[in-house]
Amino acid sequence: MSEQKLLLPILIVPDPLLRKVCRAVTPDDMKRVKTLIPQMFATMYKAPGIGLAAPQVGALLRLVVIDLAPEKVPTPIALINPEVIAKSEDKATREEGCLSLPDQYADVTRPSWVRVRYQDEEGHKHEIEGDGLLAACLQHEIDHLNGVLFVDYLSSLKRNMLLRRLAKDQKERKAR
Ligand code: NI
Repeated sequence: MSEQKLLLPILIVPDPLLRKVCRAVTPDDMKRVKTLIPQMFATMYKAPGIGLAAPQVGALLRLVVIDLAPEKVPTPIALINPEVIAKSEDKATREEGCLSLPDQYADVTRPSWVRVRYQDEEGHKHEIEGDGLLAACLQHEIDHLNGVLFVDYLSSLKRNMLLRRLAKDQKERKAR
């Protein structure tokens, strides 16, 4: 399949699908999931981004893809039914962005380390743990599966400012 055919449109805030709680992937979903995973990776790399959750492409399933360093050492990981099973009390603050809120960035404070359990395409269980960018990315993407966006961690003042700026940008983009 050509790269172009793999690309999916990314939903932008305030699309209501981005606020839905996604359901767990079941064995019956695996055919759809196996189609979706390469489409999600292609869409994420093209954007470009380091993580993408299924609801961002309109699929309300518990599935995310990540690749923290696609240009250096590509490490694509598809996580099916991921869940945070342990996290540190220590917090870390990093600047985050989101493909569903293009060009908007803000500092977000989260646990600095997490361990996540997930399944692969064959149904095997795995765990991944880490701090730094990996911890922030895992939490950000898993949040998407619960309809949570990084702006939800900001003060209402900051959030409203950012959402207004996004709405204005999107309006201008459409007008062009
Ligand atoms: Ni995001």
